[in-house]
Order: sequence, then C-alpha cells, then structure tokens
Amino acid sequence: MTEQNRIIILAIESSCDDTSASVCIDGEIISNIVYSQRIHEEFGGVVPELASRSHEVKIVTVVETALENAGVTKDELVAIAFTRGPGLVGSLLVGVCFAKAMAMALDIPLIDVHHIQAHVLSHFIEHKNTSFPFLSFVVSGGHTQLIIVRDYLDMEVIGTTIDDAAGEAFDKAAKMLKLDYPGGPWIDRLSQKGNENAFTFAKPKIEKFNFSFSGLKTSILYFLQKKEKENPHFIKENIHNLCASVQKTIVDILIDKLDKAATQYPVQAISIAGGVSANSKFRSAVLDYGHRHNIDVVIPSFEYCTDNAGMIAIVGYFKYLKKDFCTLDVEPLVRGYQL
Ligand code: KG4
Ligand code: ZN
Repeated sequence: MTEQNRIIILAIESSCDDTSASVCIDGEIISNIVYSQRIHEEFGGVVPELASRSHEVKIVTVVETALENAGVTKDELVAIAFTRGPGLVGSLLVGVCFAKAMAMALDIPLIDVHHIQAHVLSHFIEHKNTSFPFLSFVVSGGHTQLIIVRDYLDMEVIGTTIDDAAGEAFDKAAKMLKLDYPGGPWIDRLSQKGNENAFTFAKPKIEKFNFSFSGLKTSILYFLQKKEKENPHFIKENIHNLCASVQKTIVDILIDKLDKAATQYPVQAISIAGGVSANSKFRSAVLDYGHRHNIDVVIPSFEYCTDNAGMIAIVGYFKYLKKDFCTLDVEPLVRGYQL
C-alpha cells in the first residue's frame, strides 16, 4: 500500500470522565492518549458538569498529542471516528462537536461509534484472530453486559444490569467500607490478605442473563450498620475479610451468569473488557472457566480495557472499510443506541 492510500483515522472518546484520542493506521493503533479526570475523586463519583468542562479544556491538547505521537498531520486523515453514546450527554457533546468540526474543516467522512461495541471489539487491537461467535463480557463502572458477537459489526446484548453496574457495586461497597474512590482497585488490593468466606452477602435471583447489584448494596449496608453498633471499629478490624467477601460475592454473581450464557450459546471464545476486568479474582475466575470448558479467553491489555479512543479507532476502521459513515447533523445518543 502506498503512502497515499493508507487508511489513517483519528478517533475521539469522551463519553464519561476520560478524554481520549487515538490514531489508527490500516487497523493498527499507533497512538492512544488518555487523560483521566482526577477532579471527581473528592466527590466520590463522576460529577457530569465537571466532566464536560474538563473534556472541553483538554480535548485540543489530547488530539494534538495523539497526532504528534503518531507522526501524522491532520491533512493525512481520511476519517474522524467518535463515540456517539451511550454516556453522559455533556461529555459526549464535547467529543461529538469536536469530531464534527474537524470532519467538516478537513472535508472527510465522519464515523459514529457505539461505546459498548468499541469495548466488545477492543481486543482486536492486539488479538486479531479471535474466532466468531464469541461471548463478550463488558464490565465497568457504567456497564455490565453479556453480548454475543457473530461478526465484527453484528452483535446482540443478551444480558444487562437492571440497576447498578458491577464497577458501581465495587465502588459503593468500597465507600461503605470507608475506602477512597474509585474503590474497585482498593477492594482488589485489600482482598489479597483476606478470607473470602469470612462473611456472606445476599445474591440476587434475577431472570435470564440479567444482573442486579442494588440488593447486594443494601445487604452490605445493613450488615455493616448492625456490626458497627456492636463494635465501632468493626470495619477497620475486618477490612481484609470484608473486601475479600464482597469481591467474591460480586465475582460469583458475574461468573454464574457467564456460565448460563456460555451454556446456552456455544461460543469459540470469551472476551472481557471494562475497568472491572482488571480485577484479579475476576480475571482468574474467567480464565479458569475457559480452561475448564475448553473455551479461549481473550483479555485486552489494561490500556484498552478501560475507556480509551484506541477501541473507538478500531471500530472506526471496521466501519470505514464498509463505508459506514454518518452525516454532519448527528447528535449524541445517551441511551437507546442499538448495537
Ligand atoms: O471502564 P472504566 O475505567 O470506566 C467506566 O466505568 O466506563 O471502569 C471503571 C470501574 C470503576 O468502577 C472501578 O472501581 C472498576 O472499574 N475497577 C475495578 C478494578 N479496577 C477498576 N474493580 C475491581 N477491581 C479492580 N482491580
Ligand atoms: Zn466504557
């Protein structure tokens, strides 16, 4: 392929609290810049208004750095891909408007990308030969979804959460355990020295492949309230066992549904993505499941597990090959955006 007809795509991700830009050349991710907003830490969760303002401040530098690191000028770009949704509307708007303005100024096509579809396909950045159909498990602070993937752009959500996402369950439990936000990594770390069978919490009985974590949250809350009444130092004295027991409960709920889905839909592989896929117990439980059932398990590098524009770029590339472009009057879709 000559220099002239290389497919050079710039991708932008701004759906939540990460401002990210990536350059993809002929299906290879050349740069992937992620600015993670720290401003939310003191509030114990993402503050939408602050998130959108921060995207606005950072997006120009992030895009410029992505181009610079890839050694590409904007005149070489053949398309702009961006996250259309789902996500926070103010955050999405920053990326959508920026992408539209750039596509218009450069007179090149615009490609809308579904954020979840991007998580699902993120492992193709590094593992190009995953066989179809595969089962994708997207588990993050905003999503808990089981998805059957029949082809690159042909996928179906078979299970989702009816309330909190798994990452939210980790973060809310961590808050009750007086740990900093985001609490998932703290629970993971503190669990290492704990007994995961020390305490048991209620597991939900939810139909099909769907999830619910709000009951678990209540179960932990009531348990801690009761114990702290008896001993005000209960949390501090039992923090390792509490973390390990909470982690085990959440991972058991996830693996139980994974098992149901993989039994009903015979698949060649299982992939996991999203921030919770960094959890050591979850990773080893999925790997163990795959090993026992002779199913390949694919886990993207952590850089591509959490929100990043590299995963938007790879979907942008697949859609570019199909000439699947959108018009300049496209708007963000907060929810109801079909895969
Ligand atoms: O994918 P992500 O970076 O952002 C979105 O939510 O889109 O995921 C963040 C979530 C947070 O809830 C965080 O607590 C959780 O992933 N997380 C973890 C771990 N690392 C990140 N949860 C459990 N164990 C971890 N090691
Ligand atoms: Zn995400």
